[in-house]
Amino acid sequence: AKTYNITLLPGDGIGPEVISVAKNVLNLAASLEGIEFKFKEMPMGGAALDLTGVPLPDETLETAKQSDAVLLGAIGGYKWDKNEKHLKPETGLLQLRAGLKVFANLRPASVLPQLVDASTLKKEVAEGVDLMVVRELTGGIYFGKPRGFGTNENGEEIGYNTEVYAAYEIDRIARIAFETARKRNGKLCSVDKANVLEASMFWRKRVIAIAEEYPDVELTHMYVDNAAMQLFDTIVTNNIFGDILSDEASMITGSIGMLPSASLGESGPGLFEPIHGSAPDIAGQDKANPLATILSAAMLLKYGLGEVKAAERIELAVLNTLDRGFRTGDIYSDGNKLVGCKEMGEEVLKSVDTKTPAS
Ligand code: NAD
Ligand code: IPM
Ligand code: MN
Repeated sequence: AKTYNITLLPGDGIGPEVISVAKNVLNLAASLEGIEFKFKEMPMGGAALDLTGVPLPDETLETAKQSDAVLLGAIGGYKWDKNEKHLKPETGLLQLRAGLKVFANLRPASVLPQLVDASTLKKEVAEGVDLMVVRELTGGIYFGKPRGFGTNENGEEIGYNTEVYAAYEIDRIARIAFETARKRNGKLCSVDKANVLEASMFWRKRVIAIAEEYPDVELTHMYVDNAAMQLFDTIVTNNIFGDILSDEASMITGSIGMLPSASLGESGPGLFEPIHGSAPDIAGQDKANPLATILSAAMLLKYGLGEVKAAERIELAVLNTLDRGFRTGDIYSDGNKLVGCKEMGEEVLKSVDTKTPAS
């Protein structure tokens, strides 16, 4: 059998709950396609801080780098919120993304027919929504220098960050976005704040330059405030706008508990994670929706390993489970069967096992 090494990073809060479910689903889908996985679980985030004193231990990053793909649950929690910057779980996540050089974060958001009722939008508006946010992940204000704390000319305390993009960073994410748009409906919208920010003016200039390589893709531009109002199609945007717009997109689809993501670089293992966080408010209660992580596992198979059949097995199993009426609290509406994280996982497993799931 084909063998792959997968690094699992359960992290904090609901992270371990959703990872344990997704691991079983991944294992079963793969084995039905003649694939074998070797899993290695490593500490990350708050869990790693408690265990080793740092949010991303060298051994965790090394293991991740040497594997074929990385599946992450979520990190963070109240306990570490007051830590100094370099000792925050979130800093570990940024170090992981930078360490794996995964600059392209694909965040698809589509309204599944089964979940139209869970959308915050009216049925007529929500139906058929199918977005892809292509988020730049290793640059911009998250990483820009200068940054820090200090004092201004009046002796007042200040905190500051810098939004900065080099041409090569914009060019490479733009190319990924044009390729993505080409495979979808041939339309790409670049989202920026070029009416105010120099970094955005430069972003727009580079995206326009790269567009010459893709004459078949129709490029438009939109300011981020306007884009927040009328999200659509394939969007390419910077690190921080992509973070915000993808959470916004999640509500259209019904819940943040549904949205997966894939983070890819030029080479090396991809990083796959739900877009949601550690949800401390429901952690340890078996209430988390594991579907975002299960769908991230499907993206791992498809984008990370090129194992499209096993990926489709998982996607179909999720649809089938929803067809059979199973819902966690975040996507529940009248008449559904309310289940917890574990039971949802078991129902998905049953569907993975069926050769030809319904619908
Ligand atoms: P969050 O995404 O953790 O939670 C926001 C809301 O959505 C909460 O009400 C939560 O219960 C709900 N929710 C999230 N995931 C869910 C799921 N799978 N099923 C059902 N409900 C779900 O965002 P937050 O509360 O702003 O952040 C909590 C912690 O997570 C913070 O420490 C933050 O830094 C961290 N965080 C981590 C990641 C990550 O690991 N990639 C992403 C976002 C936030
Ligand atoms: C996400 C999260 C992270 C981000 C945080 C936890 C660093 O919100 O993955 O969307 O801002 O990228
Ligand atoms: Mn986010």
